[in-house]
Amino acid sequence: MSNKIVLKADNLHKHYQVSLGLGKGKAFVKALNGISFELEAGKTLAVVGESGCGKSTLARQLTLIEEPTSGELFINDEATTSYSRSALKNLRTEIQMVFQNPYGSLNPRHTIGFQLTEPLDIHTTLSKEEKRTKVHAMMKHVGLRPEHTGRYPHMFSGGQRQRIALARAMMLNPKIVVADEPTSALDVSIQAQVLNLFMDLQDEYHTAYVFISHNLSVVRHVADDVMVMYLGKAVEHGAKDAIYNDPKHPYTIALLSAAPSVTGHKKELTLQGELPSPLNPPSGCALHKRCPYAKPICSEIEPELREWEGRLVSCLRLEEIYG
Ligand SMILES: Nc1ncnc2c1ncn2[C@@H]1O[C@H](COP(=O)(O)OP(=O)(O)O)[C@@H](O)[C@H]1O
Ligand SMILES: [Mg+2]
Repeated sequence: MSNKIVLKADNLHKHYQVSLGLGKGKAFVKALNGISFELEAGKTLAVVGESGCGKSTLARQLTLIEEPTSGELFINDEATTSYSRSALKNLRTEIQMVFQNPYGSLNPRHTIGFQLTEPLDIHTTLSKEEKRTKVHAMMKHVGLRPEHTGRYPHMFSGGQRQRIALARAMMLNPKIVVADEPTSALDVSIQAQVLNLFMDLQDEYHTAYVFISHNLSVVRHVADDVMVMYLGKAVEHGAKDAIYNDPKHPYTIALLSAAPSVTGHKKELTLQGELPSPLNPPSGCALHKRCPYAKPICSEIEPELREWEGRLVSCLRLEEIYG
């Protein structure tokens, strides 16, 4: 029996209007260009791609911080656009976010005891004693000492602060946690501990994660499925083993080639040039100017994601490349 789908994105777009400067008019930054996926309860979708490809923009749409330009987001099978404002407030407890910088989640001026209790104050009718018990249990759960609830965020190390941010996100037992580069600011030795904590909490609470990182080796540890993004679109999306052991999209192969610590695949590929601006994306396949396999057709036709050897890939030239 398959698990329940707790989060579904259907063709999400997010275009930001920006000013080009005095008298030059306006333009749109196409940060997100049609992202779709389904996430089952208790599973992890890893989202990877270079800086600027739209990962944080996706995170803000998924956590209802922003409203997508078009497309639909379903939480627990319900379209979020059909919700009233007050219903959205309740829905927000089901989907929580953890940021790269814990100060995105934690207020430096309040004790961590206060900040872990706050979600319970707002959304539950528990007694003071019950809340205290819950907060202490969660402190222990994330590897912190309950007697430290009176301390302020700056009195903890970076790794401990990220544990506290995760504890706060978990206080109301959300169905989904979206974590945007949650270990990128931490020392490598601490990263593994925090990743393990994510995994332990997922086992315990059956939380689904959208785990965002520019680093493929970080994501490998936690992912069930992987979605590789390039300029606001998914270029390859499938089960972790397929992506890591046998990547098909030239961009995925290039990302893996650039991460020497990631073993498994044997292909090598280096891209030319730099990530184009989402203000003025290339025609056709957004990768065509950088891709060694590109042919004229790649600048003319925009590839769609399609099934290829057990995963989805958006490349016009798969038949020629893999013949
Ligand atoms: N509020 C905004 N207004 C205009 N452009 C934005 C805004 N937020 C993000 N962008 C642009 O959208 C693109 C994607 O950004 P982002 O989602 O932060 O990427 P990532 O998290 O993958 O590094 C970037 O070009 C960024 O400059
Ligand atoms: Mg980001």
